[in-house]
Amino acid sequence: MAFAFCVLLLQGCAGWQSALDPKGPAAGELAWLIWFFTALCAVVWALVMIALAAPLVMRSRSGDEPLLLDEAAERRKMRVVVSAIGVTAIILIGLTLLSFFANRTLAAIGSETALTIRVTGHQWWWEVRYEDATPSRILTTANEIHIPAGEPVRLLLTSTDVIHSFWIPSLAGKLDLIPGHMNVLDIKADKPGVYRGQCAEFCGAQHANMGTFIIAEPREKFDAWWNDQLQPAAAPTGDEAKAGQYLFLRRPCVMCHRIGGTPAGGTVAPDLTHIAGRKTLAAGTLTMSRGNLAAWIADPQGIKPGSHMPVVELNGDELNAIVAYLEGLK
Ligand code: CUA
Repeated sequence: MAFAFCVLLLQGCAGWQSALDPKGPAAGELAWLIWFFTALCAVVWALVMIALAAPLVMRSRSGDEPLLLDEAAERRKMRVVVSAIGVTAIILIGLTLLSFFANRTLAAIGSETALTIRVTGHQWWWEVRYEDATPSRILTTANEIHIPAGEPVRLLLTSTDVIHSFWIPSLAGKLDLIPGHMNVLDIKADKPGVYRGQCAEFCGAQHANMGTFIIAEPREKFDAWWNDQLQPAAAPTGDEAKAGQYLFLRRPCVMCHRIGGTPAGGTVAPDLTHIAGRKTLAAGTLTMSRGNLAAWIADPQGIKPGSHMPVVELNGDELNAIVAYLEGLK
């Protein structure tokens, strides 16, 4: 039973969202630091417990002898206490130095960043904007951050409403997104993979449903993805999807969402130009599927109560048409 419990507990230490399963240099440095601190503090704790228990055991063995003042013994005890204080000071200074050098290593990760991505926190989703010297290559997407594996990437973190916190445990430590302020976080993924992240600062009703994904890919695949994303949305094929586009553009959807290549130009909600290519809906709340798209549009307040996605009155045919259109936006 106890063994099964420990196995279950340790299962939580691996996977795509774990600070104890580092997949990049920043997370590796932090994991090493936390294990070293934990091991050293465990040894100190064990020694203190032994030092506490030993006199109790010796006293109970020696029975009820009266306590006599023995000056030589007192001096010995004083020396032990003074040396223990000295060792404590040395350990604390050592840990401070380790922490200082770990910080320097973290700062060195971004010394040669080529790619800058601006991540803006919103209640309760992430706006992701790829910066580029050529304005036509600037790209805005949401909730998923593609990066080239093996290369340092600079994230500029800010917020439009309240304080959020950006945390991809497998890749780096957490850093706040603060309205009116820009924080800089340099990350690097050693290998291609998908790493989950989570808002780590309570930011309102749907704080728990503010997930994100970092998708690290080989450079060629990343470049191809970026070029794809710069293309306007796919034109609808089939009568249902065409009807869906017609409806989408005439309903309140366009007030908040942008779809590249169409008149829909809202910027207060996630960009939907390539929504069907993403893994999830509503910032990691639902996996991407036709059924979930329909459920999300039909009942956003049932799925994510308090979210800023309103209910748009649609009958069954209209809902199916809009879903058919969005499903084609790969
Ligand atoms: Cu955003 Cu918690």
